[in-house]
Amino acid sequence: MKIAITGVAGFIGSNLADRLIAAGHDVVGIDNLAYGVREQIPAQVDFREIDIRDRSLAGQLAGCAVVFHLAAKNCISDCQLDPIETSDINVTGTVNVFAAAQTAGVGKIVYAESSALYEGSTTLPTPEADVSPESFYAVSKLAGMAFAEAYRRFFGMRTTALRYFCVYGPRQDYRRTVPPVMSAFMIKMLRGERPTIYGSGTKRRDFIHVDDVNDFHLRCLTDERTDGNVYNLGSGTNDSVRDIYAKVAALVGFGEPPEFRPDLPGEAQETLADISAARALGWEPKTSLDVGLRSALDYIRAHVLASESTAIGAGRPARADA
Ligand SMILES: NC(=O)c1ccc[n+]([C@@H]2O[C@H](COP(=O)([O-])OP(=O)(O)OC[C@H]3O[C@@H](n4cnc5c(N)ncnc54)[C@H](O)[C@@H]3O)[C@@H](O)[C@H]2O)c1
Repeated sequence: MKIAITGVAGFIGSNLADRLIAAGHDVVGIDNLAYGVREQIPAQVDFREIDIRDRSLAGQLAGCAVVFHLAAKNCISDCQLDPIETSDINVTGTVNVFAAAQTAGVGKIVYAESSALYEGSTTLPTPEADVSPESFYAVSKLAGMAFAEAYRRFFGMRTTALRYFCVYGPRQDYRRTVPPVMSAFMIKMLRGERPTIYGSGTKRRDFIHVDDVNDFHLRCLTDERTDGNVYNLGSGTNDSVRDIYAKVAALVGFGEPPEFRPDLPGEAQETLADISAARALGWEPKTSLDVGLRSALDYIRAHVLASESTAIGAGRPARADA
């Protein structure tokens, strides 16, 4: 199949491109490189540097059977600072992707929502029905979701919405204003610096490895039961930020305690996915936290810190495909 990925230069999009290419598909990659990195885009991708808000997007999607729409402004604290740009990219941009896909005759759109849609929920594990967004980022995902449903209702477009929990693995975006905890801890510890924990470290997160997320992405290509449905993609278990600190410290061989700073606004105390809907299709998260953390660490050693001579253990072998 010819398949387009928006956000192909980002964390999940670039890993998805690898998987689709390995499965024999042709990949058209869309990204404006606002947050993504060109070097992360696999060489076989037919890359088009274009903004998802560009009205000529339909021309880029010609001949594509499926679009994975992943491009977004997605750092919650950045979104809080600029609700207008958040809406522009995540709502108007998403509508433009749906409109372009419809014009181009794309058969199906699989698009990224987020566990942030459950920010106000107190139900754990959280089922797909418990939508209660609070932050500007989450509200922008809710609006994108409403437009997607309207495209399905009025144009019969086949859509699948995916609510990722905390996805981790190689190429996780460590450059964000507030980087995801795992890569932030790894980079600091490998440099011999004390990582920061915002709040007390008791917040619990449901972490899911990007390989498991991609298993579900591939399933969406062939399983018609995914049409018109929404799925939580998490591991169905959760760990505290302190647990993650201890695990990463043990892997790196780092003995210092964290630095604590005040809590960040707008962050849930606990996330935990109810993954029964995804499981009912035969999907199961397979990557244990220990194995997943090693793959993320290997990537950071090989690609982020390779040139830093102060990196602890920089001489250790790194995974060739990371
Ligand atoms: N990573 C997670 O844990 C997580 C959790 C929940 C939801 N999500 C969602 O999954 C999707 C992918 O997340 P990610 O972690 O890979 O993010 P990422 O920031 O690594 O990648 C997003 C990509 O989108 C591109 N992009 C942003 N604005 C664009 C625009 N206007 N036009 C074209 N390209 C643009 C960026 O340059 C970047 O390459 C996002 O929609 C995000 O909201 C991710």
